[in-house]
Amino acid sequence: MVLANYTLDWYSCDMKILAIETSCDETSICILTRTEESYYIHAHVTDSQIEIHKEYGGVFPALAKRAHAENIPHVLERACIDAGYTSSQDSMSINDHIIHDILADREPELSEKIVDLLKRYDISDIDTIVVTHGPGLEPALWIGVNVARALAAVLNTPIVPVHHMEGHIVSAEIHGTDLHTSYDSVHLDYPTLALLISGGHTEFIYMENSTTMKKIGATRDDAVGEAFDKVARMMDIDYPGGPELENIAQSVDESPHVFPRPMLRADTYDMSFSGLKTAIRYALSDMDALSDLDKAHISHAFHDAVSEVLCTKIQSILEDMPVATVVLGGGVSANKIITERIRETVSNYSSDIPVHIPHISLATDNALMIAYAGYNAYQRNEYIDPTSHHLVRAQGNLSW
Ligand code: KG4
Ligand code: ZN
Repeated sequence: MVLANYTLDWYSCDMKILAIETSCDETSICILTRTEESYYIHAHVTDSQIEIHKEYGGVFPALAKRAHAENIPHVLERACIDAGYTSSQDSMSINDHIIHDILADREPELSEKIVDLLKRYDISDIDTIVVTHGPGLEPALWIGVNVARALAAVLNTPIVPVHHMEGHIVSAEIHGTDLHTSYDSVHLDYPTLALLISGGHTEFIYMENSTTMKKIGATRDDAVGEAFDKVARMMDIDYPGGPELENIAQSVDESPHVFPRPMLRADTYDMSFSGLKTAIRYALSDMDALSDLDKAHISHAFHDAVSEVLCTKIQSILEDMPVATVVLGGGVSANKIITERIRETVSNYSSDIPVHIPHISLATDNALMIAYAGYNAYQRNEYIDPTSHHLVRAQGNLSW
């Protein structure tokens, strides 16, 4: 990471951030003011592409990129309006060439639209631009990164590249999500154990303090969210499968099925979910036409297997190392069956370890968590001077 030599006279004051998230299938922009003690959400707009990807049973990268390029101008405009900026012709005098130089080659239409927006909305009080630069779908990430580069260059602000999964970690700290309301910042006790369970990742991150993030375990194959989506698809349930599988699992109290818990007793915090998915495929192939009850039974047993793996690994980590707080993040942390079992495991181990779970609206991808994490990254000096904005690159496989 190249650090900027950028001096800011407002260094110790509040910071008004515009953050962009386009790593997967949500185009999201947040305008947030943060200090060490509090935060205030001016705007938070997310446009989901779920309808587009349903047909394919998962996210299709080229389509995701095109949809982000189409959606980002109106998501940005909505965010400007919600944040109280008013539209008027030539309200901000900008150098169009800066934007065209960055965007026109790759995204000519987008370039015109961003120029038009910036002429109409004077957002020159934004202090810094934050953007998810990975991991995720690289073509999709590039849309956010290029728009962020253009905004940072034209507004002459620093640009902060954020690790998407760091966003999911801090999402559990964001306890209030209403617009135009001031909230106190929550400061976690460390060491913190984060379990990130999303469509692309399933990993345990151990943090001795707020700046050190160490991956201590992860899935060796499918992510939990991916397993949810694949199992759903086998039963003709639309993408994303998680919410519907959760609903039907709750409609029964027990299941005649018992599916494998791969790597449950292995001497590692790593996990594996592809064998579980395959076992369900075999079970389904032995069944005739599936009734709603059959689907509910399968889903119930699937939840049992996933929860037992996650809870057993959490239990081992708690036994092996000091943990003061547990946080969950990622789309699957919206699942109450799984989160309740995790809460139970942690509280049975010790009633002194709180479990923070993100607000349901922040479990899946959103720019508020990216803005929030961007502030932390800025404090760690992970920002880039606007004249070096080209150093911010989309990195689909970004690791920790
Ligand atoms: O974090 P996220 O929005 O995107 C990634 O970064 O992957 O997570 C999306 C994933 C999808 O696989 C979706 O099926 C899953 O989160 N998900 C759920 C639930 N809501 C979303 N999985 C289980 N139960 C849910 N209620
Ligand atoms: Zn995510």
